[in-house]
Amino acid sequence: MTEAIEFSDADYADIFQIEKIAAAGGGLFEDPYPIWAELLAKAPVHKGTLAECMGFPAERTGEAFSVSGRTYYSVLGFAAASDVFTRKNDFSNLAYVEMGVPDFLGDTMLTMDGLRHRKYRNLVQEYFQPDKAANWWKGRVIEDLIDELLTSFESQESVDLNSQLFARVPLHTITKGFGLTVSEGLEFHGHMLESAQAGESQKALEARGRAGLVLQNAIQDRQARPREDLISQLAHADLEEEDGKIRKLTVEEIEAFCRLIVFGGSDTTWRQMGIALFALLNHPEQLADLIADRSLMETTILESARWYPQPLFPRRVTRDTQLHGVELPEGAHLQLCLAAANRDPSRWNDPDSFDIHRPFRRSLAFGAGAHSCLGQHVARMELTVALNAMFDRFPNMRWDPSKPPPYLTGSLIQRGPGELHVLLH
Ligand code: HEM
Repeated sequence: MTEAIEFSDADYADIFQIEKIAAAGGGLFEDPYPIWAELLAKAPVHKGTLAECMGFPAERTGEAFSVSGRTYYSVLGFAAASDVFTRKNDFSNLAYVEMGVPDFLGDTMLTMDGLRHRKYRNLVQEYFQPDKAANWWKGRVIEDLIDELLTSFESQESVDLNSQLFARVPLHTITKGFGLTVSEGLEFHGHMLESAQAGESQKALEARGRAGLVLQNAIQDRQARPREDLISQLAHADLEEEDGKIRKLTVEEIEAFCRLIVFGGSDTTWRQMGIALFALLNHPEQLADLIADRSLMETTILESARWYPQPLFPRRVTRDTQLHGVELPEGAHLQLCLAAANRDPSRWNDPDSFDIHRPFRRSLAFGAGAHSCLGQHVARMELTVALNAMFDRFPNMRWDPSKPPPYLTGSLIQRGPGELHVLLH
């Protein structure tokens, strides 16, 4: 047995459980989409946190998204949210700093703006280009991993794809890309989760320290003996400072990169994989079309991300400005509801329907502008390889009627599937 499968389903079910994650982030909302549609029908931009606009107390958006004393606006229209992502002189990622993200992740590209952001992002951009996803990530990491995981359960009649496949693929992919062992990756992820759930306490700091220790050995090793992996890339990259001086990243800066990429890339991709499967198995006629014609795969993945994305991302207003007729004061925080924007009826016909045949129009599932998702080509490659391999091996895959019906749920920040029990043969 290799590392990808030696941890039990219970280990994964414990780390990757949507209800547990939602409880730490404002609590569960069964189906917020009808309320979002009503709000969007009234206006694209509303005053208040997303929870307040929906008629709930502000804190139901989650602690970090509802700091008292701050003015909030929620953006639900596609054109308005796109404007916020691209009007970089009016809107800034400093929102993440004020929400305390650096206490958890450190100083990362997510919390930087302008030239500094570009310089940091450029240090790793090469590893996340489409050709690198199609060759390096796919050939070196993703294909073997998925093949091995499918083989581990192919003789079973019924499996829970959430814990047996989807929870494992993204974390293992990134861990291997970094050049860490899987047990190091899981240990790191576990300490970071503990730190996130402990808020701003001493316990959070200690957990973050333990996560750091896991990485420090690997970083020191790659500083001395570079290999072909992301940690080596970071350990030997040249960063140009504002005064033009060139220097290497510190160990703390490399750790911060790793924290961001593990967190940005594992939980989001895990949930989107389950969402894509959920949508396909609930639309058997579209699934049959996809199985027969794999050239539909790319639009299928993008449609599932449009239909049910990770819902909420923040920005800070950097100077008094207007957004689609609403005056925004400097210092206000915006909550961009990508889930509502991705179902804006002014951009998509019948937007609530999942339809792999609809004419393609870019959604905001991976953001837009300078901070658009760094790992989107890797995420899409993980989804492509996983879905293709599953439907090659198990073309009769269907829901297991003896198990509780699958569902999507979550908070206003993170949404995804519960258990996904399928019959394989
Ligand atoms: C389907 C899975 C994924 C989704 C839906 C997703 C979504 C997003 C979104 C919406 C943003 C923009 C955040 C903002 O502008 O505030 C973002 C940024 C980011 N994502 Fe992803 N992501 C996914 C997978 C990944 C993967 C696999 C990685 C890394 C391997 C990754 C790394 C990042 C990083 C580093 C950023 C920050 C980029 C920057 O600030 O310049 N993501 N992601």
